[in-house]
Amino acid sequence: MRQNNPVRYDERRQTWDVFRYEEVDRVLRDHETFSSDLTTATVQPRGRDDDSGVLTMLRADPPEHGRLREFVNERFQPGAIRTNRVRIEELTAKQLAQIEDNDRIDVVSDLAYPLPVSVIAELLGIPIDRRDQFKQWSDAIVARAPEDTDAHTAVQQRRSDAWTEMRTYFSKLIEERKNGTRDDLITLAATATELDRDETIGFCILLLIAGNVTTTNLITNAVWCFEEHDVTERIRAGEIDRAQAIEEVLRYRSPVQMVRRVATEDVELGGRQITAGERVTPWVGSANRDPEMFDAPAAFRPERRPNPHLAFGRGIHFCLGAPLARVEADVVLGALLDRFSTIEPDLTDRTPRPTFHGLMTLPCAVE
Ligand code: HEM
Repeated sequence: MRQNNPVRYDERRQTWDVFRYEEVDRVLRDHETFSSDLTTATVQPRGRDDDSGVLTMLRADPPEHGRLREFVNERFQPGAIRTNRVRIEELTAKQLAQIEDNDRIDVVSDLAYPLPVSVIAELLGIPIDRRDQFKQWSDAIVARAPEDTDAHTAVQQRRSDAWTEMRTYFSKLIEERKNGTRDDLITLAATATELDRDETIGFCILLLIAGNVTTTNLITNAVWCFEEHDVTERIRAGEIDRAQAIEEVLRYRSPVQMVRRVATEDVELGGRQITAGERVTPWVGSANRDPEMFDAPAAFRPERRPNPHLAFGRGIHFCLGAPLARVEADVVLGALLDRFSTIEPDLTDRTPRPTFHGLMTLPCAVE
């Protein structure tokens, strides 16, 4: 596809798919020609997660984008996130303590899911006892089902219910935090003069959803890749830098495979003519395997350098949570390798996640 049809129109999904690194990079950088505001599309996608009607930075173009992101940017800079590392290590240790005597674990349910949701709940300042509820909401928001089926209608209904419940939940918390006495992200948003009430709710929901399935998949994909390519021992021994290996996981099994845009004007891309208002889907997962950019892209090379993958996007919408996701993955994988001398994933029985790149479960025999 990358070679023969690098930009092609998918009639069924009514979008331009973009596969090559060069064009994906261009679309992500050029936010003036390729808008993130999907409501401007002449053909509206059916039943997607952006049908909430709430404006967030993810779906905003400048100048709104800057207004919705700048107030929180500093909290997610690598330096600021490093100060959270100790707490992330504590949360990981707590999670590991629950499974330390087991001879079988499920990387997803025992670690890769609970850790990111606990971390973001703490940063936001919400009680962790509702973690199962957060998971149900996250799953409902990211779920997909074939169009024109009863399952599709049910999925849409669950998604819409999840939005309603989250709005109610966060509205109450935001009201409580307006006095500004706490130092969490809800308080930061609740007291930010730049944001109206709906935007504050949208911010809380975006943070709760954006970092969960994605980071869960990064951690799971890392265990999967390390085992599949027989590098776990070399990483444990420090022969391969763990952080660098995680970058290769991001490239090789990108948790987010594609993002979405709308053309704001008629534009030529990869030899095809796109009309203003048409939807465009840059496939970052495909760009990350483009041989024009990466030497032997189908090979998992944990020491690959440089590794300019697009797994966190590029340009003004570059993932706000990238430094956090990197630290979380590094801490969890480090702790897992320290705690268990043998981790043998059962790769015969793997159920892929339907929409993001990852697994529903990853059972492992451990020692
Ligand atoms: C944006 C991937 C973790 C919050 C993005 C984008 C990608 C991405 C590809 C760009 C979307 C676009 O251009 O339309 C990932 C991956 C993650 C991860 C692969 C984990 C491995 C997180 C975490 C958080 C987070 C942990 C928050 C705590 C956000 C936000 C945006 C975003 C708020 C929107 C930024 C903007 O529009 O300016 N992410 N993400 N992400 N991500 Fe992440």
